[in-house]
Amino acid sequence: MDRIKITGGGRLQGTIPISGAKNAALPLLIASLLTEDRLTLKNVPNLADVNLLVRILRNHGVDLAVDGKRQSSPHGLGETFHLTARDIVDTTAPYEMVSRMRASFWVLGPLIARMREARVSLPGGCAIGTRPVDLHLQGLKALGAEIDLDAGYVVARAPKGLHGAHIIFPKVSVGATHNVLLAAALAKGETLIENAAREPEIGDVAHCLVKMGVLIDGIGTSTLRIQGRDRLDGAIHTVLPDRIETGTFAMCVAATGGDVVLEGTRRDLLANALEVLAKTGTEITDTTTGLRIVRNGAALEPVTVETQPFPGFPTDLQAQLMALMTRAAGTSVIRETIFENRFMHVQELARLGADIQLHGDTATVKGVKALRGAPVMATDLRASVSLVIAGLMAEGDTMINRVYHLDRGFERLEEKLGRCGAKIERITAG
Ligand code: UD1
Repeated sequence: MDRIKITGGGRLQGTIPISGAKNAALPLLIASLLTEDRLTLKNVPNLADVNLLVRILRNHGVDLAVDGKRQSSPHGLGETFHLTARDIVDTTAPYEMVSRMRASFWVLGPLIARMREARVSLPGGCAIGTRPVDLHLQGLKALGAEIDLDAGYVVARAPKGLHGAHIIFPKVSVGATHNVLLAAALAKGETLIENAAREPEIGDVAHCLVKMGVLIDGIGTSTLRIQGRDRLDGAIHTVLPDRIETGTFAMCVAATGGDVVLEGTRRDLLANALEVLAKTGTEITDTTTGLRIVRNGAALEPVTVETQPFPGFPTDLQAQLMALMTRAAGTSVIRETIFENRFMHVQELARLGADIQLHGDTATVKGVKALRGAPVMATDLRASVSLVIAGLMAEGDTMINRVYHLDRGFERLEEKLGRCGAKIERITAG
């Protein structure tokens, strides 16, 4: 298994290109199931999760052709995928694949909408607490799907096809919103989703569906009105920049007191997260190509934060912020409201000398004068990158084991940081 070695203490300086968003690329790839025509996606990040989803989609009959990286593009835009699902040859998404990545469960909506039947394994993904799918199933039932559970599989049927419905989600769910939005695109009539998640990645999928011929009102709000169509057209769409990668690198810069331009990204995608970062004493300015992040000499200020659905502070940046705050000049309070078990990074940060107390859903982080490098273990995707941030701040060497978690969601992480002066290297298992 690969490991990553970081020698802390250096200051980051330079530019980092921001990749396409994993959490938009995955549902956009799944949208290819909705049409017989070609869906072209640009700026697709090269990630383990993308590759795994492609295997699942191929199993359903999606044909994929990939253009190489466009070296001449200013932001090093990712790969271009041409996806064609002329015939869906298999409506089963098997356990061996779906259990490895939660987002693959979102094939359920498109499969039932187009094929009137689907058999999809209950999902897996990062071990960050109980992650039910009741809201997904509730939404799809409202659209007319009959749903049974059989041996760990969701078996869905809609012999007469799906129809529009009025769905009020009792809780904001990114996954359930994606699943229902994708299904509603091919349902007969109008679907109204209230209390929809407002994450920019949902907006990105909605914009792509509009290009495919679906009428959608309320994109970017919590009320989506979708006019389904009998058949959808092909489209060309560019995946929006990854806000979690943006926030993570911004915190790497803040951690090392650096000066870096994050290219190809946008402030509005980060919303509250950048306000929190500004409170730590980090300067964020817009440039013509992206965002410039600077922290010069001044101490890191502590913050009090709770994770919330967009536009609140994202759960996907909680671990990274906690790592940053281990060196703040004072005590920070970080409350996790989305997932009950998303603190696996705490014990690993403690190995580096962090002072963190956990009480239920709240972590109290007392800033310490120094962290010291140590061997640590990556436990989930975002937790592992928090160890990278801590490693950059620590004195001496930090060895991160089990980095396959990182490869699921961060494209060329060590190369991007290394180019800005970080002492970071991947040690490939022999
Ligand atoms: C969540 C995050 C998303 C993040 C992803 C990976 C939010 C709102 N969502 O998305 O930003 O990228 O994790 O870390 O921040 N729930 C139910 N029933 C369901 C579905 C969800 O009770 O059917 C609950 C979950 O347990 C959780 C909350 O609703 O407490 C939000 O879940 P959801 O947004 O669906 O999770 P993900 O799509 O995995």
